[in-house]
Amino acid sequence: MKRQRRSLIVVALVLMAAPLLYAVLSFAARPAPRPLWLEPPAPNTSCILPTAVIRYDHMQHLKNLRDQVMREGRREELTGARAQGLTSCRGCHAHRERFCDRCHERASVRLDCFGCHVY
Ligand code: HEC
Ligand code: HEC
Ligand code: HEC
Repeated sequence: MKRQRRSLIVVALVLMAAPLLYAVLSFAARPAPRPLWLEPPAPNTSCILPTAVIRYDHMQHLKNLRDQVMREGRREELTGARAQGLTSCRGCHAHRERFCDRCHERASVRLDCFGCHVY
């Protein structure tokens, strides 16, 4: 009689615990979605320079371009199909705050460019 009662209690406890156990296991099994850190560029495009070059040298590239435009008055690279320029990036990297800014913040880089240039 005593034994029977004990096993009834055990069965009841297992039944009560089952939903919790199920929830824990299914939560653990589901891979957490990882949001992309940098907004992907417009599909089927390529950057104005090869990826490895633009990744590490875009600052120098933009400053060279600025000198070319401001000091030498050469503006030919600002127009046309492969137009460059500080705000041309927008064509493929649509949101500055989800691309440029995100990386600069992580690297503790502070730019003053966007006080004048609209992006
Ligand atoms: C005080 C305002 C100001 C600041 C700050 C500034 N610029 Fe400019 N920039 C200008 C003006 C004005 C022009 C000339 C625009 C023209 O002639 O089309 C220009 C032109 C340029 C150009 C060539 C034209 C174009 O549209 O791309 C580049 C590249 C450029 N700047 C890059 C930069 C970068 C990079 C920074 C930040 C490191 C920066 N600028 C900060 C005012 C500024
Ligand atoms: C015609 C579309 C296009 C334009 C315009 C463009 N990009 Fe890109 N950019 C891309 C693509 C596509 C990639 C990704 C290449 C890859 O993943 O191999 C990229 C990659 C990059 C990266 C490297 C990101 C990383 O993962 O490290 C940087 C930095 C970058 N672009 C900066 C710029 C800047 C600055 C400008 C403007 C002067 C610009 N891009 C203009 C298409 C573009
Ligand atoms: C993959 C990371 C990354 C992305 C994406 C990126 N940058 Fe940068 N950028 C950097 C780093 C790191 C530096 C600082 C390099 C240094 O100081 O030597 C920098 C520096 C710059 C500078 C020079 C600032 C100064 O005052 O000297 C400019 C201009 C610039 N980035 C523009 C852009 C623009 C515009 C975009 C978006 C289209 C962009 N960057 C996207 C990493 C990135």
